[in-house]
Amino acid sequence: MTGIDNRPIGMFDSGFGGLTVARAVIDVLPAEDVVYIGDTGRYPYGPRPAHEVREFAREIAWSLVNDHNAKAIVVACNTASAAAFDELSRELPVPVVSVVEPGARALAVATRVRRVGVIGTVGTISSGAYQRALAAVDADLEFVATACPGFVEFVERGQTSGDEVMLLAERLLAPIVAANIDALLLGCTHYPYLSRVISEVMGTGVVLVSSADETAFALADMLRAQDLLAETDRVGTHSFLSSGDVEWFADFGRRLLGPELSSASRWERSANE
Ligand code: DGL
Repeated sequence: MTGIDNRPIGMFDSGFGGLTVARAVIDVLPAEDVVYIGDTGRYPYGPRPAHEVREFAREIAWSLVNDHNAKAIVVACNTASAAAFDELSRELPVPVVSVVEPGARALAVATRVRRVGVIGTVGTISSGAYQRALAAVDADLEFVATACPGFVEFVERGQTSGDEVMLLAERLLAPIVAANIDALLLGCTHYPYLSRVISEVMGTGVVLVSSADETAFALADMLRAQDLLAETDRVGTHSFLSSGDVEWFADFGRRLLGPELSSASRWERSANE
């Protein structure tokens, strides 16, 4: 084995949320090419039944492998990770990284009082994926999990502050505030964009944990262990595709991710799954 593989890393989310993970991947692995698909034409995933999200995730992941030659897949969406990670890991010919386990590990490290919270979409929280991942990391952790329907829609509209989102946050986070935790996992890749609001509601004693950095570190470890890292002296390229309005994806996405998102193109469905 040469230990060098310049094929791209494939990533996807229902929309813009996974850009928090893409940002971390670009920073941690600057030599790697990245292809990101945002399924904005079919977002949100959170309220959809698990079987439907699983089919979307399979379709996109296979497209990343077949049409974009991805060497690894990052499921940069908690809802899709919860619904499809096991299946994708079994059927894809390349390694798959989820955001759930890295997030659960980071949360267990962040708490001092051993009482933590997880927030996510209805699909993620009702799947029990975090409940299982946390129990596997530390069976003695006490935790409270709550779905936050509406948060993703605010982010996708670009409305990450103001009275409306603050009122919703106060209402949805009330059971988490009452649980006296000291670490809260943002178990949806859209939620880091609402960190200011969430942190104001939770108070300064609660650490907010985002799985983006942890997922990028887990990806780097996996690529190293499997001899899949790109040459170190190259500069990675970054491509962004969307199933929805590509102009909006490029304009709004650039504000969220940064200059690497210089343009976006249309994701065409793969015919050869
Ligand atoms: N960003 C996605 C997640 O991490 C889901 C958002 C949605 O489409 O509902 O769960």
